[in-house]
Amino acid sequence: MNTILKFPNNFLWGTATSSHQVEGDNFHNDWRKWERETAGDKSREAKLKNWRQDFLNLKPSPLENENYISGRACDHYRLFEQDFDLIKKLNNNAYRFSIEWSRIEPEDGEFSQKEIEHYKKMVAALKRRGITPFGTLCHFTLPLWFSLKGGWINKNAPEYFERYVGKIAESFGNEIGFWITINEPLVYASHSYFSAQWPPQEKNILKTIAIIKNLIKAHKKAYAVIHNFNKSARVGIAKEVSYFEAYKNKFLNRTLSWLFDYFWNRYFLDKIKDFQDFIGINFYRSDIIDYPKNRFNQNKNKEVSDLGWEICPEGIYHILKKLKNYKKPVYITENGIADAGGGKRTKFIIDHLKWTHKAIEEGADVRGYFYWSLLDNFEWDKGFWPRFGLVEVDYETLGRKPRQSFYDYAKICEDNAITD
Ligand code: FCB
Repeated sequence: MNTILKFPNNFLWGTATSSHQVEGDNFHNDWRKWERETAGDKSREAKLKNWRQDFLNLKPSPLENENYISGRACDHYRLFEQDFDLIKKLNNNAYRFSIEWSRIEPEDGEFSQKEIEHYKKMVAALKRRGITPFGTLCHFTLPLWFSLKGGWINKNAPEYFERYVGKIAESFGNEIGFWITINEPLVYASHSYFSAQWPPQEKNILKTIAIIKNLIKAHKKAYAVIHNFNKSARVGIAKEVSYFEAYKNKFLNRTLSWLFDYFWNRYFLDKIKDFQDFIGINFYRSDIIDYPKNRFNQNKNKEVSDLGWEICPEGIYHILKKLKNYKKPVYITENGIADAGGGKRTKFIIDHLKWTHKAIEEGADVRGYFYWSLLDNFEWDKGFWPRFGLVEVDYETLGRKPRQSFYDYAKICEDNAITD
């Protein structure tokens, strides 16, 4: 017999997006510049060709320059009302989006009232539909002027961020109740300054460390300034978390997994533990640790997404159990799969929710789940080809077409339950 697994009353069901990935025409940020400078990079194409031949039939072709240039993206900037109708059809009661810093402050110290009004319109449109907004203040992209000053490496970076956040907090007052200061600080620092796959593509461990420290400071300042203008605001972070498995449970692998878990999952949270009202987690994958081989993504027994990320729903359970120590409400601010064929997405969602439910039953205070993403969108250095959306986007016509998983997720949200 099937068991119905109910989620707590008032559980938030949502989807998540970020400005640069869906809005289009973000003229004043570092990514736009970088995309244009690096679009023709042949090494990316070679990698893709080795990866999966069937991607080559996708539109736009993953091998074309237009794949790597966000351009008008999904044109969510103009089509947000239509997209919010889709959210309503999903029976969602929450939506996570990001405010694009480079729109609000296109030049150093110059704020655009027009853009503030734009995001206010979005918030009002969500509220009209009974949807709780979760606003992210920095989702990777930086205003060009700020990146030219060194971005997060600049010693005054936390103050620049505080000034921008202060402007937003003052303008929005209590119109937004949930704020996420920074999205995935360690992914940002490591991709931009360690593995050097994102702008500014530097490899510098000292800078990586300095940036992490600045991001911690910036978060704390943002936390305080938001509370100055909105006493009841709930402020947190969207923290990347990954489940590290010790291959064959060997001693050395267990020790390394512990270290990875500490630095990747917990270090940042420990540093900001008195400056957060909730913990947001972005969970996608597990990683196998097998020293000295690098077995990342190589567990042949496990399914992977189109991006080769190992699917491990049980991982979310282990993470949620550990987070209990922080004694804060938790929101799963991202969880999703790149699945162009669409055959894996519903199972992916249900399996992660099953393990989440088990963690809740065992005392984890999880209050919401945001699927990444509402729409197919621009997946950073990979471009447009990875398809994360519950809704398929035709980038030529900008048409939106709900996938089967859209209807399956809508049912889960309506029932506030999954069936095991
Ligand atoms: C996360 C990012 C998000 C998206 C997903 C797939 O790391 O926060 O913007 O790219 O991965």
